Amino acid sequence: MNKIIVSIILAVILVVGINKITNVIYNVEKPEKSAYQVESVTTVASNTTSESEMTNLNSENIMAIFASTSVEDGAKVFKKCAACHSIAEGGANKIGPALWGVLGRKAGSVPDYKYSKALVAYGKSWSFEEMNGFLIKPKDWIKGTKMSFAGLKDVKERAAVILYMNANSNNPLPLN
Ligand code: HEC
Repeated sequence: MNKIIVSIILAVILVVGINKITNVIYNVEKPEKSAYQVESVTTVASNTTSESEMTNLNSENIMAIFASTSVEDGAKVFKKCAACHSIAEGGANKIGPALWGVLGRKAGSVPDYKYSKALVAYGKSWSFEEMNGFLIKPKDWIKGTKMSFAGLKDVKERAAVILYMNANSNNPLPLN
């Protein structure tokens, strides 16, 4: 019985001790952490938002996300698209239509590309918001599209690739 009590006390001392040590370590690192405070606050905020809220938020604020990404990031993301799309000026249609100057262009309007009926009927122009919505999950945004690509879940990836496509154009859409 005594042994049990002693080992419980020892365990308590051990836990308290570890706590103390952790506190010391935490305090030492504290100044370094506060340098990133703004970033960690935004991370926490986005983590606590549910996925559907995120989608709404993201499509409303896609232009705000541009600031945190770059055309270079977009070039990397575009590798996921390059199997099916060219992006260079005068690039050919592949499995999907050529994407030079796609932002601001009417959806389904490359003359020598055979689009699905759904995309031809869609009729809208590719604004930043439309493109963002489409790239989240193409088959949800335009029911019946033949673009068999799952989508880009990460808003930063979508923003980056949209920036990249906008830069590859004679008439980029204004960024503000
Ligand atoms: C597996 C092949 C494939 C991949 C990968 C793919 N696409 Fe497509 N994409 C297509 C096809 C096919 C179409 C034509 C859809 C239709 O007619 O319904 C299309 C259409 C589009 C359109 C509409 C163009 C227009 O002229 O209206 C855009 C924009 C687009 N894709 C962007 C992308 C981006 C950005 C990526 C990468 C994140 C991507 N696609 C990845 C096959 C693909």
